[in-house]
Amino acid sequence: MTHDPRRRRFLLAAAGLCGLGLSGGVAARPQRYAGRADPFTLGVASGEPAADGFVIWTRLLPEDGAPLPPVPIEVDWEVAGDDHFRRVLRRGTAHALPEWGHSVHVEVSGLPPGRSYAYRFSAGAMRSRSGWSRTLPVTGGERLRLALASCQHYEDGYYAAYRHMAGQDLDLVLHLGDYLYESNLKAPVRAHGHPEPVDLDGYRRRHAVYKRDPDLQRAHARHPWMGVWDDHDVTNDYAGLWPPTAFGATPPERFALRRAAAYQAWYEHMPLRRGARPVAGGMPLFRSCRVGDLATLHLLDTRQYRDRQPCATETWGGGRNAACRERTRAGRTMLGAVQERWLAGRLREDSGVWPLLVQSLMLAPFERRQDGEARWWTDGWDGYPAARGRLLADIATSGVGAPLVFGGDIHSWWASELRDGPEGRALATEIVTTSISSRGVPYAAFAADLPHNPHVHAFESRQRGYTCCTLTRREGRVEWFGVADVRDPASPVVRVRSFALEAGRAGVTDA
Ligand SMILES: [Fe+2]
Repeated sequence: MTHDPRRRRFLLAAAGLCGLGLSGGVAARPQRYAGRADPFTLGVASGEPAADGFVIWTRLLPEDGAPLPPVPIEVDWEVAGDDHFRRVLRRGTAHALPEWGHSVHVEVSGLPPGRSYAYRFSAGAMRSRSGWSRTLPVTGGERLRLALASCQHYEDGYYAAYRHMAGQDLDLVLHLGDYLYESNLKAPVRAHGHPEPVDLDGYRRRHAVYKRDPDLQRAHARHPWMGVWDDHDVTNDYAGLWPPTAFGATPPERFALRRAAAYQAWYEHMPLRRGARPVAGGMPLFRSCRVGDLATLHLLDTRQYRDRQPCATETWGGGRNAACRERTRAGRTMLGAVQERWLAGRLREDSGVWPLLVQSLMLAPFERRQDGEARWWTDGWDGYPAARGRLLADIATSGVGAPLVFGGDIHSWWASELRDGPEGRALATEIVTTSISSRGVPYAAFAADLPHNPHVHAFESRQRGYTCCTLTRREGRVEWFGVADVRDPASPVVRVRSFALEAGRAGVTDA
C-alpha cells in the first residue's frame, strides 16, 4: 500500500490544496505596516550561506496580538559590513505574504566571500534587532567551526545551551531535527500553552512559542543556521505518509494534510531558500553546500521518503526495540530512491577535505540485548539496515575520504566508527549530539550494551547540551558542551569531553 504510486500522488495532491492556501488568489496591494506594536517578536535569523550571500529571515507577529491585515506587508531590509550600519552594502523591500504566515525570506547575493555581515529589517516605524551572518569561502578555507543542535522540547527545559552557543565563535549552526515537539508533557518545566497542533494555525502557533525564547533568538541572530527535520517537527515516529500509529488513529488521507501543514509552518519559520518552499504536500529539503575545498555538507531528509518502520502493527507503527524479518528486507529505504541516487552522485563529486553528512538519526548500529537476544530500535537506521548498507557501499566506492557523519534524535552523545561489517574496515566517523533540552535516554541501560558494540568509542546521556566541531585542513576537534541544570535558564554550561579527528581517516581519539 505504501508503494502504490497512484495513492501517493492522490494524497500529495490533496495535501497540496491545503499547502498552497490563498497563493492562487487575487493579488492584494501591498501595505506598509501601520501597527504601533513591535512586529519582530520572533527575532531574526540567517541561513543557507553561499560564497556570495545567504538568506535572512523574519516573520511578522505583533506583540499586542493584533491580527495583521490579510495582504502583503512591506518589510525593508539592509545588510552592512558593520553593526552600526554605516556601510550598507545591500538593501531592498520584501513582501511578507499572508499565505506564508507573513514570513520573509530574502536571498541576499553579490557579497564578497568569507566575511561577516550585519543585517536587520524594518516595517513601518518599527525596526528589528540586528543579526550576524557570514559568506563562505570560494576556494581554500583554513578553518570551519560548526555547532550541532537537536531535540529541544520546550516543556522539558530552558535553552542555556543556546545562550552559550551564541557566545561561541562559529561559522555555522547545524540543527539536526526536532526543532519543536508536537506533544505536551504532563509535568512541564514550562508549558507550550496550547493543544497539540494538527493544522497550519496550530503549527504556526507552536513555532512561535519556540521562536519567542530569548536564548534561541540570540543563537539565531548571532550565527547562520542550516538544518534538517526529524519526526517531532510533524509528529512522533511518522514515516513518509504513514502516520505514527497506523490506520486506527489517523487515516493516511488525513495525515497527509497534517504533514503538509507542518512542512509549510517549518518552511515559514526557517531561513530557507525559495527552492525549499513546499509543493503539493511535499518539501524539497535535501541539499549540499560547499565550504571552499575544505568541506562539503550533504544535508539529508530521513523522514519524507522512508518506508514504514518494520514490525509495525495496527496499533504501533513507530519505533520500538524489536527483531523481525521485515527489518532486514533488501529493498527497504530510508532516503528514497531519488535522494539515494543524488547522494551517491554528490559523494563521487566531493573533493573537499571533509565530506560531512548532516542528518537527524544515529547512523551507526547499536545492538541492544534483551534476555540474551538482539533488539534494534526500529525508527532509526537500525530499522533500515539494508539502506544503511547501500549508503556505506556508496561511501566505499565513491573514492571520497572518510566522511564525518552528524546525527541527533537519541538525546545522548555518541562518538563511533562506521564500519563495513561488524569486524570490518572503518569507513567513516559519526558524532551524535545530545538534546538541547529533551530528556535523555537511561544511561545505565545503554552503557550495559556498550561491550557488544565495540565500534562505539564514547557515549553520554546524562546531560543536555550541544556539540562544537572545529575542522582544519589536517585535523578536527569535537567538543561536547553540557548544561548543568536544564531547569535553569541561567545554568552554567561546561565542556564535558573532547575528541581529536584526523582528516581523511575514520575514527576518534580522546583529546
Ligand atoms: Fe527528539
